[in-house]
Amino acid sequence: MAINFASWIILLHLLLILLCSNGNQAREIVETENKSLEIQHNHHHHHHHQHNHMTHNIDPSLMVFFTLKDLKVGKTMQIYFPKRDPSTSPKLWPKEKAESLPFSSNQLSYLLKFFSFSPNTPQAMAMENTLQECESKHIKGEVKFCATSLQSMLEFTQKTLGSTSEIQVYATLHKTKSSVTFQNYTIVEIMMEILAPKMVACHTVPYPFAVFYCHSQESENRVYKVLLGGENGDKVEAMVVCHMDTSQWSPSHVSFQVLGVTPGSSSVCHFFPADNYIWVPKLKSQGSSSM
Ligand SMILES: *[C@@H]1O[C@H](CO)[C@@H](O)[C@H](O)[C@H]1NC(C)=O
Ligand SMILES: *[C@@H]1O[C@H](CO)[C@@H](O)[C@H](O)[C@H]1NC(C)=O
Repeated sequence: MAINFASWIILLHLLLILLCSNGNQAREIVETENKSLEIQHNHHHHHHHQHNHMTHNIDPSLMVFFTLKDLKVGKTMQIYFPKRDPSTSPKLWPKEKAESLPFSSNQLSYLLKFFSFSPNTPQAMAMENTLQECESKHIKGEVKFCATSLQSMLEFTQKTLGSTSEIQVYATLHKTKSSVTFQNYTIVEIMMEILAPKMVACHTVPYPFAVFYCHSQESENRVYKVLLGGENGDKVEAMVVCHMDTSQWSPSHVSFQVLGVTPGSSSVCHFFPADNYIWVPKLKSQGSSSM
């Protein structure tokens, strides 16, 4: 297979799937540059060394969290925006081709042979983690789905948002070209608040072709598009999701450690990397809001 999965793995970017619901669970996937996926389940036994007592030495790739009160023009914060090179990132496959292959962790050895990866390589481990995360049970108040093609992402989204609604998609856009991934950004403008009575978020996950982890949850979310100005002159139109009710999240949720807040005491917002998508129903009155 001529897929440049090896270079892609080096370019692994932060990927953040924030799952929270009315149930007493919060789970998240954090993928950083060299590491494959780390999956943190709150009240389970997983303890991930570098993310536990890290208030003093925070992994830059976790610098995507903030609270709603900091969402204002003029606010400066350090933000990590992973960048991927489109020429080496996994390609979209047509639905028929993607679905002609199994997508299941119990078919891993077949899949590794198919893609010519040796077991225990970072690529093999990343694939296994992705399959397992895709197979994990959804949490309460949530629907989730791993889409192996654009078409299946659209089908899941349409089904979740309601087949009668027109849908609209938003993604973070880098307006300038630079390779800086971590720097101070200032909020230049709150471009719009997007009304999102329902929302599906789709995140890219490591796989030899493009796979999206999509999920939707019932608790209140607010979605914004903001213009950020980087210290080096970079301009980013960044998508933000704010989770308004964090009372049911685990106290060990990584965002609380980064922000120094406790469950329910604060909203938790986060920036979206560029190749992640936020789908919402299209509303007639959608437009800029004054903030
Ligand atoms: C990635 O791995 C290389 C080699 O092991 C190491 O030198 C580098 O610091 C690592 N980068 C990150 C961001 O962990
Ligand atoms: C952001 O600015 C602060 C204050 O000037 C500085 O200490 C910090 O190192 C900067 N962060 C980055 C990632 O450049």
